[in-house]
This record gives sequence, C-alpha cells and structure tokens, in this order.
Amino acid sequence: MNFLPKDSSGCPYLILAPMEGVGDQSFRQAMASIGGFDEGVRDFLRVPTNAHVESLAVKYQANEIAPIPLAAQLMGSDPDLMADMACEMQKRKAPRIDLNCGCPSNTVTGRGAGSSLLKDPDLLYQIAKKMVDAVSIPVTAKLRSGFDDISLFKENLLAAQESGIKYLTLHPRTKVDGYTPPARWDLIAEAKSLLKIPVVGNGDILTVDDALKMLRETKCDALMVGRGSIINPFIFHEIKAHFAGVPYEPQWSVLIRYFDVYLSSMPLDMPEKTKISKMKQLMGYLFKSSPALMEKRQDILRLIPQNVQSFLNDILPLLKETFTLR
Ligand SMILES: Cc1cc2nc3c(=O)[nH]c(=O)nc-3n(C[C@H](O)[C@H](O)[C@H](O)COP(=O)(O)O)c2cc1C
Repeated sequence: MNFLPKDSSGCPYLILAPMEGVGDQSFRQAMASIGGFDEGVRDFLRVPTNAHVESLAVKYQANEIAPIPLAAQLMGSDPDLMADMACEMQKRKAPRIDLNCGCPSNTVTGRGAGSSLLKDPDLLYQIAKKMVDAVSIPVTAKLRSGFDDISLFKENLLAAQESGIKYLTLHPRTKVDGYTPPARWDLIAEAKSLLKIPVVGNGDILTVDDALKMLRETKCDALMVGRGSIINPFIFHEIKAHFAGVPYEPQWSVLIRYFDVYLSSMPLDMPEKTKISKMKQLMGYLFKSSPALMEKRQDILRLIPQNVQSFLNDILPLLKETFTLR
C-alpha cells in the first residue's frame, strides 16, 4: 500500500509539520480552513515513564481537522509504555502514529526521549519495533540527522527501517544545530539512496521553488512543511497549483477566515493575555513574508492591546496593504 500517494497532477503528498506551541490546535484548525495539505501531525504527546496512558491519550483528537487526517506523535523512551500508548492512539482512531526522534528540548532529552534516541540506535529500534508490533495502523518516525553530530546517521536510519516502520521523515539538522544552520538536504538524498522505505523531506521549505528544489535534489517521496506554513499559510495550495499547472490566487477573505478560525478555536477559558501573545507569535512568523512588514514587526509586537480582537483589527489594514490578495 502506498502511504504517501501523489495527487492526480503528480504533486507529492504534503504534510503539515508538528510544531509544539505555535502550531497548536488553533493553528492546525486555522490551516485546515485554508487546506491544501494532505495530512497534519499533532505535536508530540510526551509519554513519561510514570505515564497513565489512558488519561494522556485524551489529548489526541483524531477528527480535529477532519476531513484532513491528523497523525499522532509520541515521544518517550520506554518501549512497553510507548507500545501501550500506541494502542491507545489506535483506539482513538489515529490514522498513523509517529515516533519523535528529534525534539531537542533538554527536559525531554534528559530523560532519553526525543533526539536522545539518536544516541542509541538500539533503543530507537526497540521502541519503534514494539510500537509497530502493537498496532495494525502505520507507525512512522521523524528523525533529526543526529544528536551532537552525524556519526550515527546511517545506523539510526537503518534501525528505524529495520523496526518495520512504514516511512520516515528526516529533518536534516542535528540536535545541537537547533533550527539555525541551513538544513542539509544532501542528507535527505543520502537517506533516499540508503533506504528501501519512503522518505519525507523536511526543513527550510519556504517557497514553491524550495519545494521543487528539495524534490529535485533529494528525490524524496513527500514533503513536510512547518515554519514555512506559518509564514505563508497558502504555501500548500501554491505547491499543488504548480503541479496542476494553474495559477493560484490567494484570497483576502480566506485569510480573514483563517484568523477567525484561529481565534474562535482558542479555549474559552484562555486568558486574554495568552491569546494576545499567541496572536503575536503567529504574526511574528507571518511578517517574515514581507520586508515591509518586517520593518514594522518590532513596533507591533511591542503593542499592549486591550484584547486580541482589537490587536487583530489594528493589524489587518497593514496586512491588506502588503499582501496583494484578491
Ligand atoms: C516551534 C516548533 C515546535 C516544534 N515541535 C515539534 C514537535 O512537536 N514534533 C516534531 O517532530 N517536530 C517539531 N518541530 C520540528 C518541525 O516539525 C520541523 O521538523 C522543523 O521546524 C523543520 O521544518 P521547517 O523548516 O519546515 O519548519 C518543531 C519546530 C518548531 C519551530
């Protein structure tokens, strides 16, 4: 079975990346209101060694962005617990379960999960294998290129493949790199030539040209976009339109709806201050799409608005001026 089907125009399968914090449920639902991607991935559910899997599992809602499927991502280091948690995800109708082998956070890596798994290909294998054996839905993994360096790069890829996962996503930076140096797309190409399972390419896709370049240079099977989709929420449609050979014209009304969905899907009991800081975080990315907006970024992020709606109302004219949307 092909888990990463191309569309009828030959456009590769497009995945919205998991992004803890900024890419929360409100963001995913806002992105789903625009659409263009084939699947989303929820940010990681941390599975600590004392986890009560049933109560933890309720955080995952399979229909959150329906009809777009939403994969669950698990992060932990105890193979049996991870297998139990995978079963809970299956019960909750997850279309697939992804093993996080990339989160750089120290609180996480300190306990042997996330990117720490890249220091121990055997443990990576054991966890992935237990998860694969526990469920009938596809299990996948998302890896960075290494922890301190890429000395275990091949071992990690092969360990992941050997476990029986259906495909893997590669974000080709080490844990130590964080998010700063350019993603090493040559490593995606290397993974492609080494592995039999499909590889999803990820890292630094900000434009349609980047997407095409990654496909050309790496021969990866599908694409995952994270920050590029906060900067330009229309990016998935733009990539699809390129393959379909039709022009894509982003519409102002669609962007307005995106903000409406973003705001209305924030929890009712969320303090106004938190809503404002979330909106500022989103705008901080969105402004990167235009030098004119970038100039005003600091001033805007320093504003102390009364409420999130008035903050948005103040920014919309600026966006309208800058974005040439119909
Ligand atoms: C704020 C933030 C949170 C992230 N959270 C997760 C996460 O929960 N799980 C994960 O596998 N990757 C996470 N990532 C990594 C992204 O999924 C992606 O691999 C990385 O940002 C590179 O892709 P991009 O250049 O398209 O953003 C996160 C990245 C950012 C910027």
